[in-house]
Amino acid sequence: MFFRVLFVFFVLILVNLMAVYQDVKVNNEIVSVGTDLCSNRYDLLRPIFDEYQKPFKVLDVGAAQGFFSFSIAQDYPQSLCIMVDENTSYYGNHGDFLYDLCKLNNHLDNVIYLRKALSFCDLMQLNKEEHFDFVLAFLVVHLMSPSFKEQTQIIDELLKLGDNLIIEVASDIGVVLSSYVEFLSTKIECRYLGEVVRHRNSGCPRLSEGFINCPCRGKIFLFKSKIDKDSKEKEPFRGIKKETYEALNGIHPEDFSFINGQQTTNKE
Ligand SMILES: C[S@@+](CC[C@H](N)C(=O)[O-])C[C@H]1O[C@@H](n2cnc3c(N)ncnc32)[C@H](O)[C@@H]1O
Repeated sequence: MFFRVLFVFFVLILVNLMAVYQDVKVNNEIVSVGTDLCSNRYDLLRPIFDEYQKPFKVLDVGAAQGFFSFSIAQDYPQSLCIMVDENTSYYGNHGDFLYDLCKLNNHLDNVIYLRKALSFCDLMQLNKEEHFDFVLAFLVVHLMSPSFKEQTQIIDELLKLGDNLIIEVASDIGVVLSSYVEFLSTKIECRYLGEVVRHRNSGCPRLSEGFINCPCRGKIFLFKSKIDKDSKEKEPFRGIKKETYEALNGIHPEDFSFINGQQTTNKE
């Protein structure tokens, strides 16, 4: 108990000393605010989850500090959230930090963390093994490959991987991809969820250009699956396969059998 309190204390001090990307949630409380706004985006997602009539499984690609998955896991106890992230050259410690946050949020027994920088090949393999109700890909596809062609192929795989792909693209980064996604939204079944301000003013890199408020925007789209619904299982598997957990370097929960395939609920 003493060591747990010490660990929580240590992580909270660390979080408040460094700039974090997302708001950091521990036990459903925001303990540190991020440079990037999260609640405005979550508000666009909630009506979608609210209108979904059954328990759902979410793949959160580029989960960062897990704001979305921890929020969904808390607010929808019958859901299962699978987060994927890793330390990358640009976002140095996101992989390590997310692991600490999983431990701090271990009252949630419906969260899985796969610590891996996903590649196009990983997604192709994942498509053979798994299927999700929702795939979240917020501001991440442009980071998954430097090649625009491969980014479009990644989107193709993501579209097959979930019944719903919710994707965010930005006005100020990865703009070619942003135009492509906007174009795609006119060609296949898609619901435009809205535009959001991306940064807190304190975290906006463009304010030095003379803007009074952050000019960076994100656009969020919900694409419906490219997969023929009739070919899907009637009762989809609610966990993920052990092989997937191992292949994609699953590190939370440590005891995988605890969560796999079970209808999980939050601990009291
Ligand atoms: C711009 S941040 C967006 C974070 C979060 N999705 C959001 O919108 O708040 C990109 C995140 O994706 C992660 N990331 C980058 N490349 C990745 C990859 N190939 N697979 C999984 N995560 C990746 C980064 O570590 C970082 O946490």
